[in-house]
Amino acid sequence: MSRTEDLNNALAVLLIALGGISVSLIAQDCDPTLPNIEGPFYRTGAPERTDLYVASEGRQLMITGTVVGYDCRPIEGAWLDFWHADSSGIYDNTSPSYAFRGQQFADDEGRYELVTNVPGEYPGRPKHLHVKVQGEVVDELTTQLYFPDDPLNDSDPWHDIELELVIELDLPDRLLVASYTFQIDEPGTGYCPGDFNEDRRIDGEDLTTLLANWGTDNPLVDLDEDGLVGGADLSALLGFWGSCFD
Ligand SMILES: [Fe+2]
Repeated sequence: MSRTEDLNNALAVLLIALGGISVSLIAQDCDPTLPNIEGPFYRTGAPERTDLYVASEGRQLMITGTVVGYDCRPIEGAWLDFWHADSSGIYDNTSPSYAFRGQQFADDEGRYELVTNVPGEYPGRPKHLHVKVQGEVVDELTTQLYFPDDPLNDSDPWHDIELELVIELDLPDRLLVASYTFQIDEPGTGYCPGDFNEDRRIDGEDLTTLLANWGTDNPLVDLDEDGLVGGADLSALLGFWGSCFD
């Protein structure tokens, strides 16, 4: 059994034992994830892996979550590239082992998982992880994730509360389990413009939904994203009539 499977099993047992915590795993809203500065230490070509943990580097950190699009649907196979400092606050900028750097692809439900160590404090900054996230669209999101309890958060010019990990389980000196949902600026997998009732057809029911939202700015119905549900959206819906795009 791999370390990741071990962790998953341990987490499942703990969640059952503690009761109620699992609810918070899905409680995070679907909101656009803020970009954050890349910083000077990104390296291309990190190995594809989800497990960066090193036993001698202190406390274990497990982050799970989902990559979703602006329609809040998961993005199958989204790409994520994590990098962070070691327990001494130092980045591996040269070695072929790419310590604490790894890229991965989300599963068919947009889910990802990272097992690593809690990074040390980089001088003058709160603890953080860097990440790039991308779906099928060329634009990539570059941002950072922060720890809610870090005393340096408040004085850091780049920290934002929206980029704080959601802590699920906190075992001091041993294990920190957290989650984070990334929402990036592209449609989720299976998006079908105008298929508001998700029945894979554009028909009368979808037309009724559009008309019911006429004149509003409902982003889920505003097909041309101009901030107003109106004639252009009606034309688009009629243009898609009967069909559905994968
Ligand atoms: Fe950094």
